[in-house]
Amino acid sequence: MSESANTPTAPHHAPGASVRHTRAKGEPRFPDGPMADPAGSHFERRIRSFQPRRSRVTAGQADALQRLWADRGLDIDGHAVDLPALFGNDRPVVLEIGFGMGEATAQMAAADPGTNILAVDVHTPGQGNLLGLAERGGMTNIRVANGDAIILLREMLAPDSLAGLRVYFPDPWPKKRHHKRRLIQPEFLDLAATRLAPDAIVHCATDWEPYAEQMLEVLEAHPMFVNSRPEGGFAPRPAFRPLTRFEGQGLDKGHVVNDLLFRRVQPDDQP
Ligand SMILES: C[S@@+](CC[C@H](N)C(=O)[O-])C[C@H]1O[C@@H](n2cnc3c(N)ncnc32)[C@H](O)[C@@H]1O
Repeated sequence: MSESANTPTAPHHAPGASVRHTRAKGEPRFPDGPMADPAGSHFERRIRSFQPRRSRVTAGQADALQRLWADRGLDIDGHAVDLPALFGNDRPVVLEIGFGMGEATAQMAAADPGTNILAVDVHTPGQGNLLGLAERGGMTNIRVANGDAIILLREMLAPDSLAGLRVYFPDPWPKKRHHKRRLIQPEFLDLAATRLAPDAIVHCATDWEPYAEQMLEVLEAHPMFVNSRPEGGFAPRPAFRPLTRFEGQGLDKGHVVNDLLFRRVQPDDQP
């Protein structure tokens, strides 16, 4: 089937139907949507925290990507981002890494319009889904970034520019030989600490208990973070964090969910 027969506006497309594309290598999946090869995805030897997935994009998601990417999307191309220009205001910006399909992100944005959410993932259907949810919900405080969060943090975001960081149900990489792919590691925290403003909160949640223990260990050991819970340990799930899709799947399997909330401090600001 030709590309044009599959454009989201093609009249025979039923809502929710998936869209097939035959593309040359490097050609973007959607001409007005996210870049096919965000910076750093192919040109750097580094262990990655995500698995490239070939996933179906529904007609609705494709439509959102095509129409909204220019205004609400950010390609991770290695260029510095001007956050007030990106959002059109200078409200605090929280970075969410790995939003999946974006339902929880959209709910949090709706509940807190005074905070801007920069939501990053490599998952194209989720990017389209979140753009659509934001549009339908009238949320103007969400921007969707396409690519590896490490490049975004390292190359594109200024020091002290983030008011918070959310990492909800990052890929657990349960096999021992894959543990090096887990996102929450000392080196990641070194990088994140430089981009977070003093007093910014890092909020992680996971349903994989060995990963929760690892998160607690590396966050507690890091000189730039202190547990926002005076008694230490895991935090009760805060009411402002909605149930996420991945969390629901974990709970169905009987997994225990742990939240961690740590504050970014100055090195000499330790208790
Ligand atoms: C297990 S899913 C969880 C999704 C969502 N937070 C939830 O709870 O339903 C983890 C997500 O993180 C994304 N991810 C992992 N590493 C990433 C990275 N370095 N940059 C951007 N996204 C990443 C994956 O593509 C995936 O969508």
